[in-house]
Amino acid sequence: MKVLVIGSGGREHALCWKISQSQNVSKIYCAPGNGGTESIAENIDIKADEIDKLLKFAIENKIDLTVVGPEDPLCGGIVDEFERHNLKIFGPNKKCAQLEGSKDFSKKFMKKYGVPTAKYKSYTDYEEAISELEEFKLPLVIKADGLCAGKGVIICNSKEEAKDTIKEILNDKCFGDEGNKIVIEEFLEGIEASLLCFVTNGKIIPLESAKDYKKIYENDLGPNTGGVGCFSPSPLFTEEVKSKIQKNVIEKILNGFKEEDLDFKGILFIGFMILDGQPKVLEFNVRFGDPETEVVLPRLKSDIVDLFLKTIDGSLEESDLVWDDKSCVTVVLTSAGYPGSYKKGLEINIDSLDSSIILFHNGTKYEDNKLLTNGGRVLSVTRLGETIDIARDNIYKNIEKVKFEGAYYRKDITKDI
Ligand SMILES: Nc1ncnc2c1ncn2[C@@H]1O[C@H](COP(=O)(O)OP(=O)(O)O)[C@@H](O)[C@H]1O
Ligand SMILES: [Mg+2]
Repeated sequence: MKVLVIGSGGREHALCWKISQSQNVSKIYCAPGNGGTESIAENIDIKADEIDKLLKFAIENKIDLTVVGPEDPLCGGIVDEFERHNLKIFGPNKKCAQLEGSKDFSKKFMKKYGVPTAKYKSYTDYEEAISELEEFKLPLVIKADGLCAGKGVIICNSKEEAKDTIKEILNDKCFGDEGNKIVIEEFLEGIEASLLCFVTNGKIIPLESAKDYKKIYENDLGPNTGGVGCFSPSPLFTEEVKSKIQKNVIEKILNGFKEEDLDFKGILFIGFMILDGQPKVLEFNVRFGDPETEVVLPRLKSDIVDLFLKTIDGSLEESDLVWDDKSCVTVVLTSAGYPGSYKKGLEINIDSLDSSIILFHNGTKYEDNKLLTNGGRVLSVTRLGETIDIARDNIYKNIEKVKFEGAYYRKDITKDI
């Protein structure tokens, strides 16, 4: 089989890595890929949101299966387009992708079908939003409706800050049309955790759980990032929490899918806030998370291509997912300045790492046979271990062997559990 993976991050490197272990795969392409995918796939110079070019490439190269990493092409309707041309593609169609592409759509869905989530209201009109601000307690959360690459959520600690934020999004259009609508919601206390699930044919089948670290500095200080560390499994998902999620969240979502005629196929990522064992849903994503994928896929024993094909034809069962009991941890090396501005093109040197380390590339590229930094998140140093502590200690022993100017990483990943 020839497989095309779309995207260029650590998630896509992990996907290519796992796909390359499949018995049935003869060739992997990655568009556009990165310095890491290059070692297992052929990188193709097409961006993830260039749907027409990707379609042409898939037809001309007789691709048997396409796997979509990021949200942009999914929300842009790549699945509908490929399916129209009878091409097999893993991911939800455009209608279902609204669960990530529009915060208003997903909140309406949650409210209508009783999925526990923060109380909210949506606005398109500045005056109306301002006049109703008094109804919300502080802190409050303001979210731009559309896709904002992880920058569209602002937690406001004062009404002044909230007013400024509403003006910036609705009137000044700081997120362009993605901010034509906003959601204002109550702030939820608790601990965050995420659950990736395969969804097909009236079934939601959870993968093993993970917990990511979003803040750039130790002790969860500083600004939000795309995620700078992660581990699996998350101890927050006790049997009790899992059964609550099954009953109060998953069954409600399935009912909503049926009622709304949403034929969801692919990965549903459910972001939770858990307080005193009670899960509430923060948001949905409609694709693999990054860095969750980097710690969940190494624990998956099953052939992932088989899982993708069974998701597409609707036959996937829970028993198809076989897991390694080991834990997995990843620590992300980032460029100095990230998540603010940072330099690209710095040379990376890697001394020999222990063979147990899996090095996923997030933002790298090869130029003249040199490996260079090419993003804010650069490399994810990953390892399986009998316990989380073993995996973590070994990662921190190895991480100093990866060198580039200004390389930064958090030293406290998993220390809070
Ligand atoms: N209602 C809320 N209460 C507390 N924190 C929130 C709330 N909504 C979002 N957040 C915080 O903001 C982050 C981003 O929000 P999220 O809804 O996941 O949007 P996105 O990932 O699209 O930026 C969350 O991971 C969480 O840390
Ligand atoms: Mg999120």
